[in-house]
Amino acid sequence: MASWDIGDFGRVIAADGAYRVLVVGGASGIGLETALFLAGCGASVTLADRDGDGAAAAADAIVQAGGQASSLQLDVTDATQVADRLGVLVRAGGPFHAMMNAAGVTGVTNVPGHLVDLTDFDRVVDINLRGALVLTQAVLPGMLAAGFGRILHVASIAGKEGNAGMAAYSASKAGLIGLVKSMAKDCATSGVTINALAPAVIQTPLVAALPEATVSYMTAKIPMARTGTLDEAARMAAFAISPACGFTTGFTFDLSGGRATY
Ligand code: NAI
Repeated sequence: MASWDIGDFGRVIAADGAYRVLVVGGASGIGLETALFLAGCGASVTLADRDGDGAAAAADAIVQAGGQASSLQLDVTDATQVADRLGVLVRAGGPFHAMMNAAGVTGVTNVPGHLVDLTDFDRVVDINLRGALVLTQAVLPGMLAAGFGRILHVASIAGKEGNAGMAAYSASKAGLIGLVKSMAKDCATSGVTINALAPAVIQTPLVAALPEATVSYMTAKIPMARTGTLDEAARMAAFAISPACGFTTGFTFDLSGGRATY
């Protein structure tokens, strides 16, 4: 558990579980680390993932450590399931204060765009882009009614810059950045902010599963000449979904060691 308090940002996530955060993709990697960090700050965290067992294990670990957490199995490609399962939670506990969406896949990489398999392309877009819309549609109405909300979708540096050999992934993340820009403007006066996060390379199971050539290519482009840490990702994500981050919407937070300076 992190000892750092998100109150350092000047506004406090009530350290009594009153700030309810949904972390989708919370069973692994960046989503899991952010969920652990937020729970350590006193937030009540719901971990959702296609890997329901992984999400449940993470929630158990948080509770064992004295935090507040629950879990549910959720596949973001199933719009009906997402609406039904999140609808039950919102009706029971009220709207979430914040949602972080870290569910994502790379699909097949190290393949030039003209050779991309269309089935793989559709799967990547279905999860990374359509899934983000499905999730936002499920949680946004409650947030709008409450007059407060924080939504953060994890995009990628690939969506800003375009990584060679990753056409499907880069296109899905660029689409996600556009989705965030548009939906943020829809609700800019509502008290709900919608932002994105664009990491370069963070050591997670997703990166571990990539071909070495792909990881070397991405890492070589980072001016800091290192990969980012999970802790760095979690802290930036936590800020973006905290009450402290109130005057930023439609933005893509950079987490790329200097690769993107815009
Ligand atoms: P990860 O593989 O450790 O975690 C991704 C999680 O998403 C997994 O728990 C997986 O079960 C879940 N997931 C996948 N498909 C799902 C679906 N259909 N429904 C619900 N959950 C699903 O990966 P990591 O690295 O933590 O990635 C998190 C996000 O960050 C992804 O969107 C990824 O594209 C993005 N990202 C990661 C970078 C990195 O270097 N690790 C760099 C840039 C972006």
